[in-house]
Amino acid sequence: MSDRTTISFRLNGVTTRARVSATASALEMLRDDLGLTGTKYGCGEGECGACSILLDGDSTNACLLFAVDCDGRDLRTIEGLASDPIGAKVQQAFVEAGAVQCGFCTPGMIVQATDILRREPHPSRECISRGIEGNLCRCTGYVKIVDAIEAVALARDSAQERAQ
Ligand code: FES
Ligand code: FES
Repeated sequence: MSDRTTISFRLNGVTTRARVSATASALEMLRDDLGLTGTKYGCGEGECGACSILLDGDSTNACLLFAVDCDGRDLRTIEGLASDPIGAKVQQAFVEAGAVQCGFCTPGMIVQATDILRREPHPSRECISRGIEGNLCRCTGYVKIVDAIEAVALARDSAQERAQ
């Protein structure tokens, strides 16, 4: 008898079913069962943020989330952020700011940045730095990542000023 359970959830806007074991993480389900490898496996312990996804809109470590607990929820991964108004701007800003080096942390950083900018339309650099504290980057020194996220916020400010 299979120990797997069928769950159903929204994944990047599409109703999706998966058969998962009781012990599988959402990260394993996304990468191994559903082929969405943009979400990275770093530490597997909630320490690095490489596996960040949006769960019902909130940034969440997919390595600490049981797949069965995704039943009925809304998941968005880096693959789904290109069609998200904020996520698309963040991706572009990372490229323009030179915030991508090896790229391993980048999907998680972009998910986290999207979460920050949704919660706080005008974050200070300090607020951005605090917001990405749970996402580790071995390459960039973080300055260009903060620059990229700040650039999205500043572009939003000037668009609002022009509209007033
Ligand atoms: S792989 Fe999930 S926090 Fe590191
Ligand atoms: S760009 Fe390499 S870990 Fe961040």
